[in-house]
Parts: sequence; C-alpha cells; structure tokens
Amino acid sequence: MKKGIILYRSKYGAAKKYAEWLTELTGFDCAKLPNVALSDVKEYETILLCGGIYASGVAGISFLKKNLEALKDQKIAVFCVGASPYDAKALDELKAFNTKGKMNNISFFYGRGIWNESKMSIKDRVLCRALKKAVAKRDPSTYEPWMKALMSVGEGNCDWTDRKYLEPILDYLKEQ
Ligand SMILES: Cc1cc2nc3c(=O)[nH]c(=O)nc-3n(C[C@H](O)[C@H](O)[C@H](O)COP(=O)(O)O)c2cc1C
Repeated sequence: MKKGIILYRSKYGAAKKYAEWLTELTGFDCAKLPNVALSDVKEYETILLCGGIYASGVAGISFLKKNLEALKDQKIAVFCVGASPYDAKALDELKAFNTKGKMNNISFFYGRGIWNESKMSIKDRVLCRALKKAVAKRDPSTYEPWMKALMSVGEGNCDWTDRKYLEPILDYLKEQ
C-alpha cells in the first residue's frame, strides 16, 4: 500500500496552501477534490483532507462521508481552515456539525486561513456582509469565536496562514 495522500478543496487558496505545506513536510501525494477517484484513494494507508470552512461546513468532507464504508480501513484526519482564531470547543462543535456522530475515529485539526473580501465571489461577499450586519446587532460579549473574527476583519485583507498550525497534525502522524 502507498503511504499517504492529501486531498484538498479550497476556494480562496488557504486550504491549498496548507495541503502544499503538508505535502512538502510528509512526502505524501496530493490531489485536488472533487477530481479524485475512490479507487485511487483506497491505495493509501493514510488520508488527510484539507478543506476551507464555509458556514460551518468543511469543503471536501462529502467525499469522506460518501465513501466512509469503503475507506473504513484507512487512517483519516481532517485539517479544517477557517477565519476564526483557534478554539478547542469551536473545533469540537465543528466536528459534531460535520460528522453527525458518524466519524468518531477521524481526528480534526485546525489552521487559520485567508480573508479577502475584494477577491470573494459576489455571492460570498453579500453573504459575509449580511452576516456582519446580523452579528453587529449582538452584544459583543456574547460573540462566538467566528463572530469575533468576522467583526475584526473589516473590509481589508487578512492572511493568517502559518506553518505553526500544522504541528498538531504532524504529531498525530508521528503517533500512527
Ligand atoms: C461565505 C463564507 C462563509 C464562511 N464561513 C466561515 C465559518 O463558518 N467559519 C470560519 O471560521 N470561517 C468561515 N469563512 C472563512 C473561510 O473559512 C476562510 O476564508 C478560509 O480561508 C477558506 O478556505 P479557502 O481559502 O481554502 O477557500 C467563511 C468565508 C466565506 C467566504
């Protein structure tokens, strides 16, 4: 069996960047979803999915969900990429939201991504502005981590991608 593959799904480039760093650091192969065949992925012992977070959903996770039974013998981990600062509780909630209790053996990791309104699709920009308006009505002391991040980005460009976020997933790989 081949050692490992990194699958990624990225709209604005952050999950792709983490996938490329992980490829360099692990020597695993790398492939972009959705153009990946299950028969190819099944040849690997370890599968790492890197996906951007959109409205709490992890891009690319549908590939794992759809093929859960076929991939039951593989070691699988998910590296999610979002705008919020890292928060352990929020990551647990994100895992619960995305797996609905069906992927308990899959570990979730987190890295901060990119926020660039000028490069967003019109639909995404409108959605984010509407979200900001809704959040602005709340008392800031009740903000969830993602709300704090959303309100702090303004309309500028932020790139929080950093190799330091890969340390926990690299430790996980060493333990396997
Ligand atoms: C429409 C939209 C919804 C988003 N929802 C979330 C979210 O729920 N949580 C979060 O942490 N970041 C959220 N983000 C920020 C993205 O996760 C961030 O831009 C990340 O870099 C996306 O990954 P990508 O660059 O690989 O596409 C959202 C961004 C957009 C445009």
